[in-house]
Amino acid sequence: MRHILITGGAGFIGSHVVRLFVNTYPEYEIINLDKLTYAGNLSNLKDLEGKPNYRFVKADICDFDAIREIFDSLKIDSVIHLAAESHVDRSITDPFSFARTNVMGTLNLLQSAKEAWKGNDDGKLFYHVSTDEVYGALGFNDQPFSEERRYDPHSPYSASKASSDHFVRAYHDTYGLPVVLSNCSNNYGPYQFPEKLIPLFINNIRHNKPLPVYGKGENIRDWLYVEDHARAIDLIFHQGRVGETYNIGGLNEWKNIDLIRVLIKTVDRLLERKEGTSEKLITYVTDRAGHDLRYAIDASKLSNELGWKPSLQFEEGIDHTVRWYLDHQAWLDSVTSGEYQSYYRKMYGV
Ligand code: NAD
Ligand code: DAU
Repeated sequence: MRHILITGGAGFIGSHVVRLFVNTYPEYEIINLDKLTYAGNLSNLKDLEGKPNYRFVKADICDFDAIREIFDSLKIDSVIHLAAESHVDRSITDPFSFARTNVMGTLNLLQSAKEAWKGNDDGKLFYHVSTDEVYGALGFNDQPFSEERRYDPHSPYSASKASSDHFVRAYHDTYGLPVVLSNCSNNYGPYQFPEKLIPLFINNIRHNKPLPVYGKGENIRDWLYVEDHARAIDLIFHQGRVGETYNIGGLNEWKNIDLIRVLIKTVDRLLERKEGTSEKLITYVTDRAGHDLRYAIDASKLSNELGWKPSLQFEEGIDHTVRWYLDHQAWLDSVTSGEYQSYYRKMYGV
């Protein structure tokens, strides 16, 4: 039996990866390790409670002794590492917590794997989940990021993720740790914490609250449905070449303001409001500091080597996602209560 440690499994993408692995591979033990920060929520995985191949462990990846002990006692032979501080705006106000979790936390996991596996790497793998933001910003006419693109991070978040990527490669090159990495574009779908653009705006449209559009709304992101990301992780985990990096993207670039108009149209339609009712909520606000203009991913290595491609059309994915948030107000209310509320008030004054 393989004992796979998935870190950050109570978060947005992690919960989809845990669900996919638990349901697809009954022969693996899936250990979900999460600190349950404001972004981690076990109700994201209610459907897995009681499954014999699933186990949850509450732990902090910054606690080296605890992590080392978990590697030993649970006989961890593979890692899929997603735990991170993930919101760019928070990294601007609190860069230290990003360095601690994303850099030091990753280093603790790498060192624990190295010590536990002791060079006996048969069937072992350390899979590091990273982001396209490490590559920096594209101009409107630039080619999408390939795996060869030079790192050029601009935010404390992307700098911390870039640093963690470098540590992962250093452990491969220096100690021979079997690693694989992927760098993905913006994800959307159910269970995303509503501080990120898509769930935040769906919720605000529903409740007739302002939609804070940074700058002129001209920044471009490449959107991928979260379950397609989870499928790509599954494929790379099982078939990716050790030591390699794979870029994952949606081939689906949207200017923020155009995407926001799609959200407005979809929510208004589903709530049976007159078309265009919520356009008045668009509120242009001061731009995010260091705001990257455009991200776009060249995922041809992943599709040529492993045959991956996104399964969902964007229109279908957005429709499904908007319906999910409209049907899960209780989930939104529970994750936006308490600690997060005061942060939200401070950031946006609402
Ligand atoms: P998220 O913020 O929704 O979830 C992060 C999870 O990590 C939470 O469950 C949280 O409790 C946990 N966590 C945080 N600090 C921890 C610590 N010290 N110890 C243990 N657990 C801790 O993030 P997400 O959007 O699901 O992103 C997951 C990963 O994917 C991150 O590494 C992120 O950089 C990467 N990524 C995200 C996107 C995206 O669009 N969201 C795109 C590409 C890559
Ligand atoms: O590209 C991958 C990255 O995508 C991940 O690594 C990050 O973890 C994830 O948070 C996401 O980063 P972004 O900064 O692109 O996502 P966010 O949802 O915060 O913002 C998307 C775009 O919308 C961005 O250009 C900023 C803008 N925006 C965002 C918010 C929250 C607004 O205009 N207003 C807002 O209120």
